[in-house]
Amino acid sequence: MIKYKPKLSLCVVYLFVFYLAAVTSDLESDRRALVVLRKSVRGRTLLWNMSAPSPCDWHGVHCDAGRVTALRLPGAGLFGSLPIGGIGNLTELQTLSLRFNSALSGPIPSDFSNLVLLRYLYLQGNAFSGEIPSFLFTLPNVIRINLGENKFSGRIPDNVNSATRLVTLYLERNQLTGPIPEITLPLQQFNVSSNQLDGSIPSSLSSWPSTAFEGNTLCGKPLNLCVGGPAPEPGPGPNPPPEKKDSDKLSTGAIVGIVIGCVVGLLVLLLILFCLCRKRKKKEENGQARNVEAPVAPPATAAAIPKERAAVVPPVKATSSESGVVSKDLIFFVKTFGEFDLDGLLKASAEVLGKGTVGSSYKASFDHGLIVAVKRLRDVVVPEKEFRERLQVLGSMSHPNLVTLIAYYFSRDEKLLVFEYMSRGSLSAILHGNKGNGRTPLNWETRVGVALGAARAIKFLHSRDATTSHGNIKSSNVLLSESYEAKVSDYGLAPIISSTSAPNRIDGYRAPEVTDARKISQKADVYSFGVLILELLTGKSPTHQQLNEEGVDLPRWVQSVTDQQSPSEVLDPELTRYQPEGNENIIRLLKIGMSCTAQYPDSRPSMADVTRLIEEVSHSSGSSPNPISD
Ligand SMILES: *[C@@H]1O[C@H](CO)[C@@H](O)[C@H](O)[C@H]1NC(C)=O
Ligand SMILES: *[C@@H]1O[C@H](CO)[C@@H](O)[C@H](O)[C@H]1NC(C)=O
Ligand SMILES: *[C@@H]1O[C@H](CO)[C@@H](O)[C@H](O)[C@H]1NC(C)=O
Repeated sequence: MIKYKPKLSLCVVYLFVFYLAAVTSDLESDRRALVVLRKSVRGRTLLWNMSAPSPCDWHGVHCDAGRVTALRLPGAGLFGSLPIGGIGNLTELQTLSLRFNSALSGPIPSDFSNLVLLRYLYLQGNAFSGEIPSFLFTLPNVIRINLGENKFSGRIPDNVNSATRLVTLYLERNQLTGPIPEITLPLQQFNVSSNQLDGSIPSSLSSWPSTAFEGNTLCGKPLNLCVGGPAPEPGPGPNPPPEKKDSDKLSTGAIVGIVIGCVVGLLVLLLILFCLCRKRKKKEENGQARNVEAPVAPPATAAAIPKERAAVVPPVKATSSESGVVSKDLIFFVKTFGEFDLDGLLKASAEVLGKGTVGSSYKASFDHGLIVAVKRLRDVVVPEKEFRERLQVLGSMSHPNLVTLIAYYFSRDEKLLVFEYMSRGSLSAILHGNKGNGRTPLNWETRVGVALGAARAIKFLHSRDATTSHGNIKSSNVLLSESYEAKVSDYGLAPIISSTSAPNRIDGYRAPEVTDARKISQKADVYSFGVLILELLTGKSPTHQQLNEEGVDLPRWVQSVTDQQSPSEVLDPELTRYQPEGNENIIRLLKIGMSCTAQYPDSRPSMADVTRLIEEVSHSSGSSPNPISD
């Protein structure tokens, strides 16, 4: 035994040395691979320090345990094609993001098949071409594949189902042809719109919204029924059905199928309705009045029939007969918007505007023409007395850039806020709503005006006392009037709403130091406002799932791009397109936004400073009218 001991330890030492050698040589090979990549792909971002021994500090390169595991160079202005022996040799790679470089071209290299640990592949927004290699779907770990907005052609590989962990498949805006294969994976994100696909949509994909398929010559649910062509396969099958000669018989079969389907569907619907009614009756009998949530009519049902005449909040009626409530009607702060009572409000025709973090919003239109917005708060955590006190304070605030709180209603089961209605909806919807569709992109004058209006409103809130903050600044809480004047909504509601109902996921606006969504400091407001400015100028949503997934938030993304290249690179193309020479003021506003998103609260400017700076930018934009472009 004793004899063997030294041998054993020697062995361990040898192993250790071998291990070290293996690790360094692997990192060395990762480094060589990145150098190969750099030789083919050009762009200012790849000014990597070649004298540094390890590639791990290079911009966009992330290492774990001495190997390159992520390469993220989004929106970095890269061009050229991907070489063999480059990324394909990064054998420990898990995340590859080259999205929105717009000029990366050529095919996906064949040696990507070595990337067996790859989980996230983001190549969208480039000019990649060639066929989508089928080996992508046999990479055992792949979770998200986004190849949208490229020039990929050929058919969608029919082995998609081999990627058993896949949840995202985005192939929109390419030049793909042929049919869509049957995909039986439980995908969470899917889009093949704007290609040249044809044939019928496999039944396994028919529950996706039609926008996921538009811009092709596809047919079948959710698009129009296939007329005269082969009917969609009823069950999931790996291959598209072979074409049949006898198409007449088949379409008869399809019609019979549809009729049967309709009848069965109707029966199921009736059955569900019946069950629901019974359940509801039972619940009412059980007298479950303690539940804060309304027992019936989830907003979703109203959303499905938005223009229908429907009571705003049916459950209030059921509870308005209860006694012991201080006031059974609306409490008004301003009457200049017209007179109405709770009954009238409930009878007004309602349309769902949206579901926010504090509750759902409705547009209520009275017969005599008045329109108001109603917010139905959920998860109110403060007792009635405090609720009424806080609302009294909110109702007393008046500023041209704050959405006016007209009235509120409080009962045990229902808390409603009545606001002035803003016809152009939220900044978020305007910035990120369906592009195309005749939507006019916001020009610079409007954007700087919106920034200034919102800044003034927040400055006003902050000026009341050092503890008053907005608490929930984001683009969906900045509303626009008919003349695109910005008005801020949802101010001061954070402290009365349960913090668990506020988003604990990364929402993209939250300052890094915030731990309790109910306690937002003024400096945290400044951070959120900074994110809003960056959103306004880049056109990118801070809540964008992929930004977050890659661990990059909007401020860090803007910072990383502007570190390497001209700040103009981050700007919304819709903004710069009509702004030929005059980017200077835009960049000034961008810098203001960036200073607001400083990591440490003390490094952020005050809202008064921010407002003054934006006023200067706005004035200097106004005093030097921009030359008319094109
Ligand atoms: C990439 O990997 C292949 C196969 O392992 C190897 O032959 C080649 O030399 C590697 N390329 C670089 C640049 O390391
Ligand atoms: C490049 O890396 C070397 C070695 O680590 C270092 O001495 C040098 O300062 C770096 N150069 C730059 C410009 O960062
Ligand atoms: C699919 O992509 C198109 C853009 O090509 C977009 O307009 C549409 O909303 C997307 N639909 C879904 C379901 O993602």
